[in-house]
Amino acid sequence: MKILAFETSCDDTAVAIIENGVRVLSSVRVSQLEHNAWGGVVPEIAARLHAEAWRPVLEQALSEAELEMREIDYLAVTYGPGLQTSLLSGTTAASFLSLLYDIPLIPVHHVYGHLCSVFLERDINEIGFPALVLTASGGHTEFYFWENATTWYKLGGSLDDAVGEAFDKVAKMLGLGYPGGPLISKRAETGDRKKYNFPVPNLGKQSLDLSFSGVKSAVRRLVEAEYPAWLEGDFSNQAPEAAVFINDVCASFEETCGRIFIKKFKTIFEAHPELKAFYFVGGVSANTYLNKAFTKFMHQYGVEIKTPKKIEYSTDNAAMIGAAAYWQLQKEGGEAPTVQYVEALPRLSL
Ligand code: KG4
Ligand code: ZN
Repeated sequence: MKILAFETSCDDTAVAIIENGVRVLSSVRVSQLEHNAWGGVVPEIAARLHAEAWRPVLEQALSEAELEMREIDYLAVTYGPGLQTSLLSGTTAASFLSLLYDIPLIPVHHVYGHLCSVFLERDINEIGFPALVLTASGGHTEFYFWENATTWYKLGGSLDDAVGEAFDKVAKMLGLGYPGGPLISKRAETGDRKKYNFPVPNLGKQSLDLSFSGVKSAVRRLVEAEYPAWLEGDFSNQAPEAAVFINDVCASFEETCGRIFIKKFKTIFEAHPELKAFYFVGGVSANTYLNKAFTKFMHQYGVEIKTPKKIEYSTDNAAMIGAAAYWQLQKEGGEAPTVQYVEALPRLSL
């Protein structure tokens, strides 16, 4: 079964063709670099760039897979959550193609897409259940209890900023650019992780929720005290000690994010000793330091840790949407959904 999927929920225009939920026949993505100058995604710019990109991206995905539209069994598209202007580009394109070629269309939840990214290019038997999934990106930071490929429920999540959003905001304060994750990670490599003691929030011992606004505000207060001009966008002070300061802030910030997660892992694994595996998905799962810290922790509990097979399946991509559509169909008994028009739902919950 071949599924052609669209993902345009934020600042990537992506199309992929997936066979039987795991095999990636093609996965094409164009990232919108124009936002970098603004330190975040600008909705109007995103809409214009998606509108320009979707047809060439679609054509490339079909040509790399050596397929034509009539050989596609299902279409799939992210319909939420995300930026309305961005989602609309994908849902409009997919609905149009569904009507034009008479191919049924499967609406996919963006976060379920991230969950299913661990299936890509893997043997399904390699995936152990029940599993804990942490999906961490610029828009969401949530824990899911995953019983099997098609049954899951939410355990908790961030009450304020997503962890990726905190990385992006801290990077902006330090004048590093956007997206912040990889830039902070690079600077943290040579920094002192113990230099600054940023707070780990206390939301109650049993709570499975998280918060990243405290650590972000603590970084802001520190920058305000040491280099206030940076908060006004003036980064002319490039003295060597400023570079050391940035490296140390990045390292201590990354370390604090790790501690915030590990505190919750302890509560979750004590409450659910039956958990066999841990899957770390979403853009932040590309972070080397967090991966190392989580792996060390999981070993103590005898739990295996897996991230998507390739980094390009961690950040937003259409292959994961194709995989999720396949598993969604299995859940619905393989019945073809009759949808030919999908509405964009920016605040969709799971
Ligand atoms: O999943 P994704 O591509 O898009 C959303 O759904 O948001 O995730 C993007 C987020 C950004 O906030 C980016 O800073 C973060 O993932 N990110 C990272 C790393 N690579 C990307 N965060 C920490 N470390 C990284 N290496
Ligand atoms: Zn995402």
